[in-house]
This record gives sequence, structure tokens and C-alpha cells, in this order.
Amino acid sequence: MTAPHRVPRAMRSRVPLIGSAIHLRRDPLGFVQEIRRSGDVATFKLGPRTVYVVNHPELIRQMLVTEADKFHKGVMFEKARILARNGLFTSEGDFHTRQRRLIQPAVRASEIAGYTRTMREQVDELVTAWADGDVVRMDQATFPLALGIVTRVLFSTDLDPATAAEVHETLPVLLRGLGQRALAPFDFLDRLPTPTNRAFDRALPRFRSVIHRLIREHRLDLGQHPDLLTSLLQAADPDTGETMSDEQVYDEVTSMIIAGSETTSAAMAWAAYLLATHPDVQRAVQAEVDEVLQGRPVRYEDLGRLQFTHRVVKETLRLYPTTWMLMRRPLEDVDLGGYRIPADAMVLFSIFALHRDPALFPDPERFDPDRWLPDRARTMPPHAYLPFGAGPRGCIGGAFSHTEAAVFLATLAQRHTLVSVSDEPVRIVTTLIPMPGPISLGVRSRAGSRSPEAVIR
Ligand code: HEM
Repeated sequence: MTAPHRVPRAMRSRVPLIGSAIHLRRDPLGFVQEIRRSGDVATFKLGPRTVYVVNHPELIRQMLVTEADKFHKGVMFEKARILARNGLFTSEGDFHTRQRRLIQPAVRASEIAGYTRTMREQVDELVTAWADGDVVRMDQATFPLALGIVTRVLFSTDLDPATAAEVHETLPVLLRGLGQRALAPFDFLDRLPTPTNRAFDRALPRFRSVIHRLIREHRLDLGQHPDLLTSLLQAADPDTGETMSDEQVYDEVTSMIIAGSETTSAAMAWAAYLLATHPDVQRAVQAEVDEVLQGRPVRYEDLGRLQFTHRVVKETLRLYPTTWMLMRRPLEDVDLGGYRIPADAMVLFSIFALHRDPALFPDPERFDPDRWLPDRARTMPPHAYLPFGAGPRGCIGGAFSHTEAAVFLATLAQRHTLVSVSDEPVRIVTTLIPMPGPISLGVRSRAGSRSPEAVIR
């Protein structure tokens, strides 16, 4: 006889009917940490729906890796289809597997080596514009940087100012709209003429038309641009030789822009904030960068020697993993750790809550890059660290964004020291991504740290 299933502890909602929607919207990070304490699997009500929350790293791994084929990505991603349609981020099944095989080569390490120069040039342009004594709003500076990098890597040519402005203006509106829709307790809320919905509806056709135009232009002189979009247009299925239609390329490009801009921007802003508030760590990054680079611009080959800088990036993504919750939808009834989760249930897991679980990370709120020293990292429970997810739906841009953040820190550390200008801790603003609230940081130039003749253009 099989053992009876365990009953997950239910979190009581404070407002009947709406369930925990208000709590979740007001304080999502507090909410996911509170529910983490309710057990390996817990439930709460979101409107009429029962949401299952999976809190144990082994059970999360079961969903993402060992039993990934029993799950689809769920309502959050279904709603993202309005923007990313059937791209890698949102597609499912055999189609997703085929697309992933086609796209993966364009973001492997050997390609990223080529993108590093673009990353460095973009970072350089930003940080050389900062002068000694400036106060920089880091949360506002890193989004255009990350978007500039991902669009440059995709489209190689400089976007003309009008095109760049279209993308820069519309994308944040679209991302904000998706964030709200993912957790709306009722679907009809997506269609109400609220300011967020109306702004979303206006931004979407503008964004689409820009991306379609860029694809058409690339198709016309295919092969002339050594960039990621060309790799996508040329990628052919090894079995059938089939390539992607312009519509499919649109979906993939959009998926990469959505998945790769705000995430990496938040990671860089948090890293800068953590350096400014931990001067000893900042000094150690500067010492490493000075020793390895000897004043010249960072190259891909240098990154392997910037071990401490890497640990800073890793630890930043532990504390601020840029996805505070993700979803899955089981295709059939599944057993997770003795709990039965019914087919089609809404299942949620929080990488943010996982990364701050004291049972997994000692002193979890402490920013401690050296917890990633090999000897200490070995003692960490397996699968506890998942900033990029795992398994067949794990992030395709993990190496890309890790490289980008390391290039950002190395280039910044060569030129400037960042200092806090306020004792107020930075607020975490959460839509889909835990974004830093206003971060104002002071810039102190490290004059003479880099000789002008060493600048490679
Ligand atoms: C710090 C930066 C980033 C973080 C923390 C991050 C995190 C993640 C996570 C957690 C997932 C898995 C979602 C799930 O399992 O439901 C994911 C998927 C994905 N990411 Fe990233 N990402 C980052 C940057 C990027 C970049 C730069 C790109 C593209 C250039 C990218 C493209 C994608 C795509 C296409 C997927 C979907 C993969 C699939 O389902 O096959 N990401 N990302």
C-alpha cells in the first residue's frame, strides 16, 4: 500500500476572495520568505486558485531537472506570450527543444568571447562619462547599459537614435505590464483600461514594429553583420536543414531582449551598490583588477584570472537573484516529497527565498563573496544556488550575463571608487524582478590608475 500524501500547510489569507494577492503584491519578498517557513511545500490562495509553493532545493530540482518533462512553465509565461509569443522563453515541448538546439550555439563561450569587446566598449563609454565628485543614479544607469549591450550584440550596428529610443521607451513599459499580469488574481484585470494596461497596449505595436524592421534589414544583407541576429537567421536544424522564419526570429530576439536586459541591469546595479557599501570588498576587486590588467582594458582571456571579481558577481546573484519567483504547471498529478500536486495546479518557487534560507546559507543576509571560495562552496547543499534556474529550461544567457557583470565591475573598478551618499538602505522594488529602488552613489575617480596609451579602441 502506498503511503497517504502529506497535506501542505496552507497560508491563511487576510482578505477572503482575493486571497493573498494583496500581501503578495505589497511585499512579495516578505511573502515568499514567510511561506518558506511553512514547509517543503505550502499553499496559499490567489483569488479562486490554490497556489502550491515548493521550498526545498531537492524538490525544486525535481521540477526543473529530473522530472522537467512533467511540467510546463505556467501562467506567468503564458501571459508573457503576448510579448514573446513562441520564443524560447515561452514555448514548450518538442518545438522548444528544437529551438534551444538551434539557438544554444550562438551564446556558447566561444561566441561570448567575441561579445566581450562590445560589452567593454559600452561599459567604458558609460564610466568614462562619470567625473570625480559625480553622484550617479546607478539603478537608472545600468538599464540603458544592459539594453545597449544586448541590442548591440544582437544587431551589431549602432541603432539610430530614434530606433534606440523606441526600444528604450517601450521595453520598461512592457516588462512592468507583464509583471502585473503574472500575479493578477483574475484574468479580466489584464483587460481593464488601467493606466498600466493602456500604456502596455500602446507600447506593444511600437516595439514590434522596430524589431521587425531590424530583422527585415538584416535579412536583406545577410552575412554582412557579425552578430547574434545573423547567427539566428542562419541557424539551421542539423537534421532537416530548416531555418527560422522571420516571425520565429522575432520571437527569439524578443525573448532574449526581455530575458536579458532588466535582469543583467539589476545584477550590475546591485553589484555596484554592494561594492559601495562594502569598501573592503571594493578595495579587493580594485587590487585584483590592477594586478591582472596592469591598467589595460579587460579582455575575455583575463576573466579567468579575475577570481575575486567573479565571486562578487556570484554572491550578488545569491542575494539579489533577479527572479524572486518562477512558476510551473504540472501536466499530470505529480508527487513532490510526498505531497501530491494536481495536474494544472499553479506551482511557484522562489529563488530569492531559497538563496536567503539560513538552513542552506549560513548568515544568509551577509554579503560575503568568499563563501564561494572552493573549500567553502563545497560544503554548500547541492542545488541551493540557482540564479539561472536549471535543466532544459535553465537560462541560456547565464554565461553571457556573468561575463557582462564581470566586465562592468572590472572596468568600473579600474577607473572609480564608488561611495554611499546615504545611510538609508536601498529599497527593493519588485515587479517580476527585484529591482533596486533609487541608488545614488558617489563617484571618486582613481586618477592615474589607467594610462591613456593603454586604451584599446
Ligand atoms: C543576471 C542575468 C540573468 C538572470 C539572473 C537570468 C535568469 C534566468 C532564469 C532563472 C531562467 C529560467 C526561468 C525558468 O526556469 O522558468 C532564465 C531563462 C532564460 N534566460 Fe536568463 N537570466 C539572465 C540573463 C539572460 C540573458 C543575458 C539572456 C539572453 C541573452 C537570457 C535569456 C534567457 C532565455 C532565452 C531563457 C529561457 C530559456 C528556456 O526556457 O529554454 N537570460 N533566465
